Amino acid sequence: MRKIGIVGIGHVGATVAHIIIAQGLADELVLVDKNPNKLAAEELDFRDAASLLDHHVYVHAGTAKDLADAEVVISALGHIELIEPGGDRFTELKANTPEVQQVGADLQYVGFNGVLIVISNPVDVITGIYQKATGLPANQVFGTGTYLDTARLKRALGDALHVDPRSINGYMLGEHGNSQFAAWSTVNILGKTAEDLVSYYNLDLDQVAEAARIGGFTVFDGKKYTNFAIAHAAVSLAQLVLSDAHKEAIVSHYDDRFNGYISTPAVIGRNGISAEFDLPLTDDEKALLQKSADAIAENTKAYL
Ligand code: 2OP
Repeated sequence: MRKIGIVGIGHVGATVAHIIIAQGLADELVLVDKNPNKLAAEELDFRDAASLLDHHVYVHAGTAKDLADAEVVISALGHIELIEPGGDRFTELKANTPEVQQVGADLQYVGFNGVLIVISNPVDVITGIYQKATGLPANQVFGTGTYLDTARLKRALGDALHVDPRSINGYMLGEHGNSQFAAWSTVNILGKTAEDLVSYYNLDLDQVAEAARIGGFTVFDGKKYTNFAIAHAAVSLAQLVLSDAHKEAIVSHYDDRFNGYISTPAVIGRNGISAEFDLPLTDDEKALLQKSADAIAENTKAYL
């Protein structure tokens, strides 16, 4: 029985639920939110939708006790209304922390022992708070991190090169935030490195990386939230867990080199992170990763 729980049914959580329901990725989907009216409305709307599908899904409102036997719980709670245009995802930290600690404690209390996928921002720090509050093994708690930013990098490169982003390999690493960076040495496009293409396509790599880095804010500035890309990022990670895929993904997880949570490569399966692996980064990229880890630690102090 594929059972998924979503905590926080705002724009992002509702979109996550919609993708899961429409694609038939769960047999049971539990919706949890602190706003009872919103929760009841979304539950009814989704149950109406489910009556039109060609597959069955039991979607219902619930509380933490309904999440105890879920394979995957996705945290989409947040206060994006606090973020200023062109601001910083750390702005949500103070408001999100107590709610995350409570949800984490509730999950521990009910005995949840599945995989917790964190969207809530600032996701690198929030993922660490969730791991402590739930008491789950570190491999069972990870954040969407720069998995989404990597998708944005591929979209920006694909736009510049007229190539389907799915034909582009490579990673955005570090903070899911302003200190992230494109690890160009990992990027490969149809057998060519990014450097190979700079002259041929007159490519400005810094411009492409910046377009990806601010991608979330470009969307946010237009509609005051983001939902579709981040929701697909979370759902595709949940599918790796449910299918025990053991596939590589850049997700925010504990990295003992930095004694903190940051996006570096991992392998995702039924129990969350089943392995980690190093990328052959250049010295400059290693320095940027350290700088990003430092930025996360500094901002955590500044914003808490
Ligand atoms: C984003 O970048 C919500 O942080 C998420 O879209």
